Amino acid sequence: VLLQPYNTFGIAATARYFADFSGTEVLKALLHDTRSSTLPLMILGGGSNILFTQDYNGLILKNNIKGIEITGEDEEFIYVKAGAGENWHGFVRHCISLNLAGLENLSLIPGNVGASPMQNIGAYGMEIKDTFHQLEALHLKDHSVVTFNNPDCKFGYRESVFKKEYKDQFAILNVTYKLCKQPSFNTSYGAINQELERMHVTELSIQAISQAVINIRQSKLPDPAKIGNAGSFFKNPTVDLAKYESLRASFPGVVAYPLENGRYKLAAGWLIEECGWKGFRNGDAGVHASQALVLVNYGNATGHEIYQLSQDVLDSVEEKFGVALEREVNIV
Ligand code: FAD
Ligand code: EPU
Repeated sequence: VLLQPYNTFGIAATARYFADFSGTEVLKALLHDTRSSTLPLMILGGGSNILFTQDYNGLILKNNIKGIEITGEDEEFIYVKAGAGENWHGFVRHCISLNLAGLENLSLIPGNVGASPMQNIGAYGMEIKDTFHQLEALHLKDHSVVTFNNPDCKFGYRESVFKKEYKDQFAILNVTYKLCKQPSFNTSYGAINQELERMHVTELSIQAISQAVINIRQSKLPDPAKIGNAGSFFKNPTVDLAKYESLRASFPGVVAYPLENGRYKLAAGWLIEECGWKGFRNGDAGVHASQALVLVNYGNATGHEIYQLSQDVLDSVEEKFGVALEREVNIV
């Protein structure tokens, strides 16, 4: 099966076997059929955080479990459960339409609900860990359904147990978010306030914040429907105070944010831009012209070419700044 329609990088790799499932029983049946096989197995969502560097010699199962329902309520919160195959932004819009707060800063992130806990998606001052309640996942070997509460997921910056100790062991079936009846607005990320001003918003609302986030994202991130990409290709790296001060002495413009633990988070986009990569293009593989942290496929780049470009970027940042970048996109 050609995977090009199933990954936002638009890489023309193939999968040996491919199927989709819209419920747990179908998934179990598919897994049952493959129990004596030693081929690799992968669960796919919207394909917006994946780079296929070669053909996949195994089975890809695309999660299409749908459905959104309110499962509980207390004084402060409403609990909303969504099937893993629901589109993330559609789910966010649904919650906003119900006047439920907590996901508005995460508007327009591509992909599906089921992948949202994988890397604890985050943007504009929020991460899903702030509103995540629980999820249900099917163990791919023993077929038990396991509930993970917030602490069980060990969320970190673009991290969770599902990328680490439980990598490739579970299919996430549904996720429940705990949303606020009364909003507490988060406009800590500088660009949001600027955009709200530009929009002439006088009274804050979750609708206005969502629209501001959408506007900012559309102005700098490439639309995968037009240019292949998977968002930020690298994580923003952290350094200790001594390293930060030595960097600042040599590069006074360095963009960094102090963290609560005394370390500093560096803007990888700035490091990459300073190395001269912004707008770079070699064949159809390139570095986005308005966001250097995003690698792009202008049409027919192979996954290998994109990966090689990421290695060249990584090497040059290491050489110039002595900082090791880590890839954020899942490499297959
Ligand atoms: P996929 O790419 O399909 O899968 C990602 C990983 O999760 C794979 O390893 C896959 O095997 C696994 N997986 C997926 N679904 C399941 C499941 N149900 N059960 C078990 N494993 C599963 N991310 C951010 O955090 N913040 C951003 O601001 C952001 N901006 C982006 C902007 C653009 C333009 C693009 C293209 C991407 C951006 N991303 C961002 C990355 C991406 O949107 C998120 O990582 C998203 O959660 C990926 O969802 P998906 O369904 O496409 O996952
Ligand atoms: N910058 C540059 N040059 C660039 C890009 C950025 O100098 O080409 C500097 C600027 O100073 C800018 C700062 O970096 O102010 C931060 O840039 P931006 O606000 O675009 O955010 P980012 O740090 O590059 C992160 C996330 C994004 C998320 C935004 C908004 C990571 C790896 N990326 O990007 O997430 O949308 O913040 O919160 O943490 C993703 O994960 O795919 C993703 C897009």
